[in-house]
Amino acid sequence: MIPLRVLAVASEVFPLIKTGGLADVTGALPAALAREKIAVRTLVPGYPAVIGALGRTRVVMRRDDVFSGPARVLAGRAGDLDLLVLDAPHLFDRPGNPYLGPDGNDWPDNAERFAALCQTAGSIGIGAIKGYQPAVIHAHDWQAGLAPAYARLSGGPPTVMTVHNLAFHGRAPASMMDRLGLPPEMFGVDGVEFHGAISALKAGLHYADRITTVSPGYAAEIQTAAFGWGFEGLLRHRTGVLSGILNGIDTTVWNPAADPAIKAGYDVRTIDRRAANTVALRERMGLSPDPTAPLFGVISRLTDQKGMDLLLACLPEMLADGGQLAVLGSGDPALEAGFRRAASEAAGRVGVVIGYDEALAHQMQAGIDALLVPSRFEPCGLTQLCALRYGAVPVVSRVGGLADTVIDANAAALGAGVATGVQCAPSSVDGLAEGMRRAAALFRDRAAWRRLMRNGMAADVSWTAPARQYAMLFRHLVETRAA
Ligand code: ADP
Ligand code: GLC
Repeated sequence: MIPLRVLAVASEVFPLIKTGGLADVTGALPAALAREKIAVRTLVPGYPAVIGALGRTRVVMRRDDVFSGPARVLAGRAGDLDLLVLDAPHLFDRPGNPYLGPDGNDWPDNAERFAALCQTAGSIGIGAIKGYQPAVIHAHDWQAGLAPAYARLSGGPPTVMTVHNLAFHGRAPASMMDRLGLPPEMFGVDGVEFHGAISALKAGLHYADRITTVSPGYAAEIQTAAFGWGFEGLLRHRTGVLSGILNGIDTTVWNPAADPAIKAGYDVRTIDRRAANTVALRERMGLSPDPTAPLFGVISRLTDQKGMDLLLACLPEMLADGGQLAVLGSGDPALEAGFRRAASEAAGRVGVVIGYDEALAHQMQAGIDALLVPSRFEPCGLTQLCALRYGAVPVVSRVGGLADTVIDANAAALGAGVATGVQCAPSSVDGLAEGMRRAAALFRDRAAWRRLMRNGMAADVSWTAPARQYAMLFRHLVETRAA
């Protein structure tokens, strides 16, 4: 099979720059696609963290004026990632969060910053880099949403738009059409317009040849008003080119048998060793050493999407039922304060670390009994996949990718011996409370719980199957374009 060249366009890539699961996906998918004979190069912004991580680089493209400053594209590698980095210091040489300034608000020039990334992708699509011609452009989320529009304008290669989260629209005022290099006729319902403004996400959804999202469940949900954010009509119209491909996780980064961050390594055959990690985690989180208490955990952005307010509301009942809670997360200041308060009111039963900590995330997965993911919506979700692999039983909302990846311990699944977790429905305080009660009861049935742990650890959460689906999609797209 001839390798197919795909240019991925993304604003985050693990381990260089990450605010969420998007980075995990763009960081791990290329290696999995390489095994399917798809050669991915990833175009990312030249944030300081990215430039600093590059080894030897080559300048492969130059532009004098990209939104009022010079820009170059550097080709380089970081680990097994083949990167093209848009080095435009006036746009990207800013430390910290890639989207937010020091005041916690979006950078005022975000539209230009990510349009620059997408214009660069468009140029590469028509051969701006000598000796490199991608067969497909793969755009991730709104930051890459204009890439399909520019590719359409320039007659570039076919494009795939992958939606990781429909909640972020990449809005810019209509008056910026000209500045962004978009002709006036592209401003309309059949173009980049969304509710009177430009939406980079809408551009991607409209102009991409194929749309994917990160689970079949979410692909169906976003065609409804409840989950569509106003895009449901467009998505229903494009249903024939829309599909869901589940995320995987990097099973070398997430491997409980060889994880340098955890105290005791284990696998499905040596599951008893896991208990040492639970002891260590309780100590780390200031929780009392009570092995009879189910230890629930959260590793999450603390936001409305993630249903963290529902969890706070259920907490008294969960504690009364004998549970403990460990939280690692950051985000909404009110939610951060809520969890801090809970930790001080229930010292020894609730432990909270506000912040972002990769190593602690691994220690949590290896130590908690159950991972809570009470999201209101969840395109895919990665933490429940890590939990399955680490023998932490996922307790999740029955939405999106959570419903697609966790087999609920209902009577049928328990009878068949295939359950891997607990699904909570509806996504409400009552729904979550009921799910947590069910989980606690299962926890007290040691044989049943062990079965859940083992089943989860045996589940295939790798990128192998998803990468095959992306590879098929890319090849099919190129063949139909050529036909
Ligand atoms: P989302 O992208 O919506 O935030 P995902 O579940 O897809 O949700 O991905 C979240 C990723 O970020 C996972 O890799 C998870 O382990 C990680 N993560 C989230 N919060 C933290 C945190 N506070 N510390 C360390 N890792 C975190
Ligand atoms: C988004 C979604 C999450 C998904 C991730 C990677 O951040 O919120 O559900 O797992 O992207 O696709």
